[in-house]
Amino acid sequence: MKIIQKPKDIQRLTNDIRKKDQYIGFVPTMGYLHDGHISLLKAARSQSDFVVLSIFVNPTQFGPLEDLSIYPNDLPKDIAAAEKVGVDVVFTPAEKDLYGTNYQTFVNLNELPDHLCGLNRPTHFQGVATVVTKLFNIVNPHMAFFGEKDYQQLAVIRQMVLDLNFDIKIIGCPIIRENDGLAMSSRNVFLTEKQRQSALSLNKTLRQTQQKVSEGIIDTEKLIADAENIIVSYPETNVEYIRICDKNTLIDMKSVDKDCLMAMAVKVGKTRLIDNCILFL
Ligand code: PAJ
Repeated sequence: MKIIQKPKDIQRLTNDIRKKDQYIGFVPTMGYLHDGHISLLKAARSQSDFVVLSIFVNPTQFGPLEDLSIYPNDLPKDIAAAEKVGVDVVFTPAEKDLYGTNYQTFVNLNELPDHLCGLNRPTHFQGVATVVTKLFNIVNPHMAFFGEKDYQQLAVIRQMVLDLNFDIKIIGCPIIRENDGLAMSSRNVFLTEKQRQSALSLNKTLRQTQQKVSEGIIDTEKLIADAENIIVSYPETNVEYIRICDKNTLIDMKSVDKDCLMAMAVKVGKTRLIDNCILFL
């Protein structure tokens, strides 16, 4: 397994791989890998000839008061995990390799970022779309793998690929959870034992809402209010949003009259957690 830091070096390498007619699968991450990331790498491994993993904590997607400075990292552990799943190249650029000293160009979407996480993180998806565009141009993959855990991010990437004519197939992969249902996240490491119990309320309310919808309760205002009441009954929780919305446009829905998305962001202590599920009618 190769470890490459410079964009030019990986561009050269993937050019050579393409000349050999090999299919390149790409998994972009911010590192501190867990089984959610590993599931994406396994999907890439099984569907492509050559697997590229990027590890880069992208500063442009963090707001000024967010957790960039404390974002967890453990590169040696990540490299060992990558090697174990059969990654071919790990791309680990430094900030100056991607943004230089006079960086000016950003990628913006008009509508999808105006919902859910975008409401409290106004520049987040601009940062994501920009770095993913750059990584796509550098790695030049045939396919790229993203988790449904970050549902809005996946929607943004799919739209961007369509709008900007990237010749890249985007594969969405299911949310990987701990045995007790907590969605895996690099940020879970910040939770105390007590907060971790509170964090279970996200998945619990998603499942309960799915159950209620299957029993015929479809008024979204009521479903959301019930979910919120349950979550705030757990210590140290602070609901940022709970929404039931169209799974393509992310626009709020009044009733569950077709399959739709339920998505939430909840702060548990200082840690912001997100989770979602599809409510099937
Ligand atoms: P990061 O949070 O490291 O996540 C990298 C990829 O892993 C994303 O596609 C995310 O959806 C997926 N992932 C995270 N937790 C998951 C889980 N429990 N189950 C399944 N997939 C999961 O998302 C980012 O990094 C960044 O925004 C990035 C796309 C790399 C751009 O900087």
